[in-house]
Amino acid sequence: MSERLEDVLALIGGYAIFGAEMVKEGAAPLIDKVSAEVHAALKEIRTDIDAVRARDPAAKSDIEVLLLYSGVHALLAYRVSHRLYLSKHYFSARLVSQLARFFTGVEIHPGATIGKGLVIDHGAGVVIGETAEIGDNCTLYQGVTLGGTGKDLGKRHPTLGDGVLVGAGAKVLGPFTVSDGSKVAANAVVLKEIPENSTAVGIPARVVKRDGARVASPSADLDHVHIPDPVKDEITRLEQRLAEMQKQLEELKSTK
Ligand SMILES: CC(C)(COP(=O)(O)OP(=O)(O)OC[C@H]1O[C@@H](n2cnc3c(N)ncnc32)[C@H](O)[C@@H]1OP(=O)(O)O)[C@@H](O)C(=O)NCCC(=O)NCCS
Repeated sequence: MSERLEDVLALIGGYAIFGAEMVKEGAAPLIDKVSAEVHAALKEIRTDIDAVRARDPAAKSDIEVLLLYSGVHALLAYRVSHRLYLSKHYFSARLVSQLARFFTGVEIHPGATIGKGLVIDHGAGVVIGETAEIGDNCTLYQGVTLGGTGKDLGKRHPTLGDGVLVGAGAKVLGPFTVSDGSKVAANAVVLKEIPENSTAVGIPARVVKRDGARVASPSADLDHVHIPDPVKDEITRLEQRLAEMQKQLEELKSTK
């Protein structure tokens, strides 16, 4: 049944896209081409729906997910805009992405690279930058930004490994990696890389758990003798600076 549906879609798609060429060159090769595209697209949609069903206990049926989940709609639009971007139709790609943003509240730059099984739960306010990369089976909640700091050129946005979860409102800023299986807590601001299977919380985010075990914080350290002295550190820094300046002054005097 689904085979026949896909063939019909392929035929309609073929006429819509290639029209006269189909009549001239014969339909078979073009139908094959369009059919392959339609098969690939249907497979992607299936994977998106399965991912939501597996990770959102509130999702009750496939049709509900397909019709009512804005994260799924945003991903469908991304797949179109990404293809346009790869074929260098940059304006059309941005147009599709901005229309999707208008309807879903999720802005995915067409240049971003996204793996299989991404779930964007609740959707609203999610921003994914141009050079962001997302591995397979990741989950992003509402208000997540995968953005840049404004300091980098080229690769400016983060890379998420496989199975990464980014909690509601979290910002991951910069061209570093959040490795496989890690979790970024809701509202955290991540500014540097996170090793695999870790949990990062807070602003700026710090790793509090790795491989299921708590990571000791400095305040949990029982060494009460070697306590850092910020005033002494500052005086040492000023002494070093003074010595550098004296040296430069003497060099200047000797060159006169
Ligand atoms: C971080 C998170 C994924 C839990 O991961 P975890 O590995 O199971 O971590 P734990 O729950 O054991 O928490 C570890 C520590 O981080 C703290 N923590 C957890 N979430 C935190 C957050 N968002 N901000 C600050 N600290 C947080 C915990 O209190 C705990 O601290 P403690 O060691 O002092 O007790 C989860 O708390 C979270 O933020 N999920 C996002 C879910 C979300 O956005 N839901 C929106 C649905 S609409």
